[in-house]
Order: sequence, then C-alpha cells, then structure tokens
Amino acid sequence: MFDVDLFVTECQAALSAPEPKRVVERLLREAMADVEGVAEALGGGADAVFQPLFRSPELTVANMSTAPGSTSPIHNHCMWGVIGVYAGQEDNFLYKRGANGLEQQETKILRKADIYVMPDDLIHAIHNPLGEFNAALHVYGGDLVERPGRSIWNPQTEVEEEYDIQQVLAYTRELSS
Ligand SMILES: [Fe+2]
Repeated sequence: MFDVDLFVTECQAALSAPEPKRVVERLLREAMADVEGVAEALGGGADAVFQPLFRSPELTVANMSTAPGSTSPIHNHCMWGVIGVYAGQEDNFLYKRGANGLEQQETKILRKADIYVMPDDLIHAIHNPLGEFNAALHVYGGDLVERPGRSIWNPQTEVEEEYDIQQVLAYTRELSS
C-alpha cells in the first residue's frame, strides 16, 4: 500500500535535486500506478478537505478533495506544484494575464491516475464536473497556506485581490451553488 511517510520523506529529499518538480513528478507517477493503494492510505474522496500531510517554507504535501459540482475562484500559487488525481475528475481552467485582465486559455481535464505539473506562474480555477467527490495528492514547492503574494480573482468583478482562504471558501460557495 502507499506509504504516506515515505512519500513525504522522498519529496523532502527531492528538494536537493536540480529540478525538484521533475523528481516529484516521478514520485507521483509511481504513486499513481496504484491509485487504489493511495485512496486506501489517504481515505480521500468522501468529503471536501484540504489536509496538509507536511508543511514547511519549502514544501507542502497535501491531500485534497472537492465536492461534486464545485468550482473554485481563479487563483495563483506563486510556486511550482505537481498533483496526482486518485479519485474522480478535476478540470483545470487555465488563464494568463493579458492587456485587459485575465485571458482564458485551455482547459486541462484530469482523470483518475493523471498527473499535472503546474508552473510557478500558473493561474487557474478548478472544477469538479462529476456527481462524486474527487481527490488528489498535491505537492508544492513552498508553503501553499502562507505564501505571501498570492492572488484570487473576484468572480463578479474579475478584480485581482490578495489571497485569503476564507474568501476562497466564500467564492467557492458562491460559484458552486
Ligand atoms: Fe490551485
């Protein structure tokens, strides 16, 4: 079965590599070769959770599930990230900054066992299109919870605002109802 502690230890060791996110990508690919084992170890997919498994200024490893039909506000991370979906589906609506605000780019659809390597400057919103909880294992090259300089975009006005988790939850409720 998937060993959470070993995975976290290997992610920490990856930080010493020339390209940590490539090592983390490989680790997640290995983990997703046994999605059922990951699901069993993490128990995700039954509730909406953001469960940090490890947090430091250089690394976040988290288990994350979102509710059926839910949509997040557009946000950035300001750090690289790699995720592996182990239950359900997560659609990523990608954006980039343009002369007149954000411009929508492609949509990246992630299904069970898919990996997504997210660049430092990623701007996205996530959506669960299915009638069941999704779940993914997330790894980021920094402290996702406390990183200064992150933004969310107000869904009504499209104005960029300072990242605030309570506001993210409020916008998610608004967008998902
Ligand atoms: Fe995100």
